[in-house]
Amino acid sequence: MTGELSPIDKAKFVAAKKAVEFVEDGMRVGLGTGSTAAWLVRCLGEQVREQGLRIKGVPTSTRTAELAREVGIDVMSLDEARWLDLTIDGADEFDADLNLIKGGGGALLQEKIVATASDQMVVIADAAKEVEHLGNFPLPVEVVPYGWQTTQALVEEALVSMDVMGRKATLRMNGARPYITDEGNHILDLHLGRIGNARQLAMVVNQIPGVVENGLFIDICDQVVIGYGDGRIEVRDINEGTVNEDRLEFVESDNLFSDI
Ligand code: 5RP
Repeated sequence: MTGELSPIDKAKFVAAKKAVEFVEDGMRVGLGTGSTAAWLVRCLGEQVREQGLRIKGVPTSTRTAELAREVGIDVMSLDEARWLDLTIDGADEFDADLNLIKGGGGALLQEKIVATASDQMVVIADAAKEVEHLGNFPLPVEVVPYGWQTTQALVEEALVSMDVMGRKATLRMNGARPYITDEGNHILDLHLGRIGNARQLAMVVNQIPGVVENGLFIDICDQVVIGYGDGRIEVRDINEGTVNEDRLEFVESDNLFSDI
């Protein structure tokens, strides 16, 4: 390891480490995308290599697929798996009902398909991701490249009648070029400030021609594992509230940290 992790990275790490407890031998597991999900993939890889855990991983992006293979996890496509026991993924925001904004890492489409095809979705997040109202994080919307500016205008027009604070949509860039998702699409980031009715917004946005999917995950997540920078962890369940509070010692294992 090249240096001390920041409190936020420690929080992501302990959340990921705790989430490994949800994974049982023989499971088909959806593997999320992003920095928190990357910790999970490394932790699962360690279990596979050192404890003989047998799982099949269904990655939600090419990045995650590469990492999963690198750390020794057997990877299969969603079409091969068809149905999953569990998906573990990060989030950009979650609220008290465990509704989410996802897609900051640009993988919302595959993430939503995989999570929806799973018996259970567990989100891993640092405590800063918890919000009273969704919307401070710009809402990612995946759109087809064809006519994206028309789609952008239609999205902004639809926002006029929605319960949101801001209404600006910007095209996500990758340097000087539009960002391209794994499915070859673009992403519009909606700067909404505060979303009053996330369920309604998700339905309205998805009806606009050119929109493929939005980053609101409504009634999909079952549990959130919340990590803190000092090693504390809280597991919150959609039906039962806080079901587990724990603390993990932050032990820097060479296998997990060597590539950072
Ligand atoms: C990727 C996602 C990520 O889960 C989300 O952006 C959180 O990322 P990180 O764990 O790096 O904070 O939705 O599309």
